[in-house]
Amino acid sequence: MSNVLEVKNIEKYYGNKSNLTKAISGISFNVSDKEFVGIMGASGSGKTTLLNCISTIDRVTAGQIIINGKDITKLRGNSLNKFRREELGFIFQDFNLLDTLTAYENIALALTIQKVKAKEIDKRVREVAEKLDITDILDKYPYQISGGQKQRVASSRAIITNPKLVLADEPTGALDSKSARQLLETFENLNQKLGATILWLHMMPSQQVMQIESFLLKMEKFLMS
Ligand SMILES: Nc1ncnc2c1ncn2[C@@H]1O[C@H](COP(=O)(O)OP(=O)(O)OP(=O)(O)O)[C@@H](O)[C@H]1O
Ligand SMILES: [Mg+2]
Repeated sequence: MSNVLEVKNIEKYYGNKSNLTKAISGISFNVSDKEFVGIMGASGSGKTTLLNCISTIDRVTAGQIIINGKDITKLRGNSLNKFRREELGFIFQDFNLLDTLTAYENIALALTIQKVKAKEIDKRVREVAEKLDITDILDKYPYQISGGQKQRVASSRAIITNPKLVLADEPTGALDSKSARQLLETFENLNQKLGATILWLHMMPSQQVMQIESFLLKMEKFLMS
C-alpha cells in the first residue's frame, strides 16, 4: 500500500516571539491508501491545528506534509487552490457554510465550480442529502437550520466530489446519536466502497468509531503517541 499522507516532524507555533503559543510540536505519522484514521485528543491538544496544516488552510512553522507524493507546504497560488478543490474534502469544526447560499447551494458549490452539469449536480446533491436525512432543509439558509443540520450539510459538501482524502474535524460533535450513526455510516461507505482515505478527529473514544478505524493516533500535550 502506498502512503497517501506523510506528516514529517511538523511544528506549529502561533503568535510572535514575545507571545508564542506552541500548538503542535514534532508530530510524524504516515497514512496509507484507504485507511480510516482516528485522531483523538483533549480540547486544546492541537487537533484542529494539525488538520488546518494538512488541508493547507494554515502553514506549518517547520516540517513537511506530503500528500500523494507532493510536498503541500511548498504549494502556492493556483496549484494550491487546485489541490484543495480536487483532492481534499474538509469538514470544519465550525462548519463554515456560506450564509448567503442555501443548504443545496452550499453542497453543490464544489461541483458548480467544476462545471458539472446541473442535472448531474442535482442527482448527486439529492443522493447525499437523502443518506444524511437533510432532504427537507435543502432550500433553507444556514441561519434557518440547527447545528446538527449544519454539520450534515457541511459533511455533504465535503464528500460530494468523492475526494481521495477527507479531513473531518469532530464531524459528529453537534449530532444526536442517530444522526451521528448515519454520518459515520456514510463515511464508512465512502472509505470502503469508494476507497477514500479518512482522517477523523474526535475528543472522546466511541465504540462505533473504533470498530471502523484502521488505527488511532492520540494527541497529548501537542505530541503524538
Ligand atoms: N489562531 C491561534 N492563535 C493562537 N493560538 C491558537 C490559535 N489557534 C489555536 N491556538 C492554540 O493552539 C492550541 C491547539 O488548539 P487547537 O484548536 O488545535 O486544539 P483542538 O485539539 O482542536 O481543541 P478542540 O478539541 O477544543 O477543538 C491551543 O492551546 C489553542 O489555544
Ligand atoms: Mg478543534
